[in-house]
Amino acid sequence: MLLSLLHKTMFCGCRIATKGIQRSNQQSPQLRQWLVKRSQSTITTNAQVSVQAAAATSVPNAASNLIVGRWLLGCSGLVVGAIVLGGVTRLTESGLSMVDWHLVREMKPPRSQAEWEAEFSKYQQFPEFKILNHDMTLPEFKFIFYMEWGHRMWGRLVGLAYILPTMYFWRKGYFTRSMKGKVLGLCGFVVFQGLLGWYMVKSGLEEKPESYDIPRVSQYRLSAHLGSALLLYCASLWTGLTLLLPPHKLTETHRLMQLRRFAKGTGGLVFLTALSGAFVAGLDAGLVYNSFPKMGERWIPDDLLAFSPTLKNVFENPTTVQFDHRILGISSLTAITGLYLFSRRMLLPRRAKVAISLLTAMAYTQVALGVSTLLMYVPTALAATHQSGSVALLSLAIWVLAELRKMPK
Ligand code: HEM
Repeated sequence: MLLSLLHKTMFCGCRIATKGIQRSNQQSPQLRQWLVKRSQSTITTNAQVSVQAAAATSVPNAASNLIVGRWLLGCSGLVVGAIVLGGVTRLTESGLSMVDWHLVREMKPPRSQAEWEAEFSKYQQFPEFKILNHDMTLPEFKFIFYMEWGHRMWGRLVGLAYILPTMYFWRKGYFTRSMKGKVLGLCGFVVFQGLLGWYMVKSGLEEKPESYDIPRVSQYRLSAHLGSALLLYCASLWTGLTLLLPPHKLTETHRLMQLRRFAKGTGGLVFLTALSGAFVAGLDAGLVYNSFPKMGERWIPDDLLAFSPTLKNVFENPTTVQFDHRILGISSLTAITGLYLFSRRMLLPRRAKVAISLLTAMAYTQVALGVSTLLMYVPTALAATHQSGSVALLSLAIWVLAELRKMPK
């Protein structure tokens, strides 16, 4: 009975519709035209709605890319915080105050007087206290301890900021196949970075009976730790920017390809200069010649190749390390100026032009900061600003590369 009622209703409905169409056929041509237009617009609107609905339900889409892109930019911001904090920890000579490493247990700093004294007496067993800080008081120890503890806690925060959202976005299906590989790589890098940090600290805790030098971490491990932090930063920033900035439709001319190659080479040179800066910092090589542009009275100092074999000078002789950093710094500045002049005569999108101009301005600021750090015998605030300047310079180089990148096929 219910079925026959349904059948009747449908049948009536169809009859009414057919009548409506028949009646509309008898109407004026204007009315008929209006009806046709209205039905067409309804079809288009329905099609748009269904495309939007499909986009909203199928991930990854533009909205999820926006979220992932912003998350990666946030992560790279946290890495910058870790780099700056790490630099200040080193410059205040606080990095060797925590003499062991526990992932969870060390998150709680000492509270009571007894706990502080126990921590201090552990530190007193190590070369930095015995050789350099034998007259250190407990309040002074608390300061260097909190500096290193803050850096380590920040490191944990960075780790969580990468790993937890990765798990969440993965489950929500926000990642494409290639993006899955990239975020896994980034998460692996964060863990590696933490382990490298402890490997670096360990080198400063070892007794070296044959050495008369003040206890410090190995300059090789310091530059590996800083270099891998910079790599993590650049990779996160690049991945985030390519999700957020739509590529420009550039005409693939020979000149554009040259500019792109030039920009890539310049970015690489800036990265190398920053790495060589870590060697300067690791060997306190900023204190050997504090004049510019000459080193003392000479353009090329006498002790440039004092160590044997010759290659050892590049990584272990403070004079050579400072000399190389100057040369690399000035070469980066020259390359960036060249890039600016080369790009000026080209028709490029506004955003690319702005990025290249900012990169050039930052390069001059960075060299001015480096020279001032040298002339003023490496004051903490200036040296930390110079270190942060290198991150700003790298960021702008990445931005330029993102603006000049090819349209995906
Ligand atoms: C593109 C140019 C440059 C870049 C990217 C750069 C980058 C860096 C970096 C990353 C450090 C390590 C900082 C740390 O770990 O604390 C450093 C240290 C240093 N740089 Fe540069 N630098 C540049 C140019 C220069 C120039 C031209 C000079 C001087 C002539 C200079 C002088 C120094 C000094 C003295 C240090 C040691 C500071 C310390 O002990 O903390 N830099 N640089």
